[in-house]
Amino acid sequence: MAKRIKKAVFPVAGLGTRFLPATKAVPKEMLTVVDRPVIQMAVDEAREAGIEHFVFVTGRNKSVIEDHFDKQFELEETLKARGKSAELNALKQDLPQAGQTSFTRQQEPLGLGHAVWCAREIVGREPFALLLPDMLMQGRPGCLKQMMDIYDDCGGNVMAVEEVPRDQVHRYGVVGTDGSGKRAFSITGMVEKPAAEDAPSNLIISGRYILQPEIFDKLEKQDPGSGGEIQLTDAMIQLLADQPFRGLVFDGTTYDCGDKIGFLSANIAYGLAHPDLGGPFRAALKDIIEKAGGLE
Ligand code: UTP
Repeated sequence: MAKRIKKAVFPVAGLGTRFLPATKAVPKEMLTVVDRPVIQMAVDEAREAGIEHFVFVTGRNKSVIEDHFDKQFELEETLKARGKSAELNALKQDLPQAGQTSFTRQQEPLGLGHAVWCAREIVGREPFALLLPDMLMQGRPGCLKQMMDIYDDCGGNVMAVEEVPRDQVHRYGVVGTDGSGKRAFSITGMVEKPAAEDAPSNLIISGRYILQPEIFDKLEKQDPGSGGEIQLTDAMIQLLADQPFRGLVFDGTTYDCGDKIGFLSANIAYGLAHPDLGGPFRAALKDIIEKAGGLE
């Protein structure tokens, strides 16, 4: 039986240069979709999948993330005094329990692979989940839960993948498939940011992983790759020589909230799907679009 996954790593040390000036003082992981910071949504997804320990790899200017997952005594007391019990309970529910979080620092943003490697001592020698919080995965059940179901059957390493138009593949890590055309398949190769004509498929690695601890050994020896950064994909290519990787075409929609269009789209999608706000928001949106001259 596959070893249970209890820990999830959230790399949040990137500079967020695509989202300046918003990310000058506010970490991009704290940008909100409707009323929730995207990092909270990633933690919610991990909890739903059974994760019990949340490991954040942070950097300078990111301490607000640590504060977000801490108890806010003054705020709680004020809400209590004002009888705002619904808000108080919601805050309490979002909070991981005492001892369920760890924070470590990536002192320089040397790349995603390096950020993951920074979590090695906290994760230890056990398989773990990795969630890139700026990739917002809208689905039921959540993306990591869908992946856990595959992992429980097959073990090994699992990645969520997603189809994109061919002319977009050069922006992402792309996987080679076993040709089965199934929703869950064996990954036969990976390449980081290929030219469209060199890409093995149009399935991109979309920000959710279940990885075996041997990835840390590969990362330890990994040279900088694309963009001069230590790339996780390069280390996974090494690991693929020793261990199986499965790809899962996630049933849902992905929004890249580190990108302005992705972020705006996520706010519209989550706003429309919101149980209380959906109706009034739809009406407001319709009005805005009409005033702007329609959609054509
Ligand atoms: P991105 O490439 O989207 O993040 O990394 P970035 O570098 O912050 O963004 P841009 O491209 O400059 O706008 C994906 C995830 O990996 C983390 C980021 O915080 C994000 O969650 N990351 C990236 C690190 O933790 N450390 C790094 O050195 C790079």
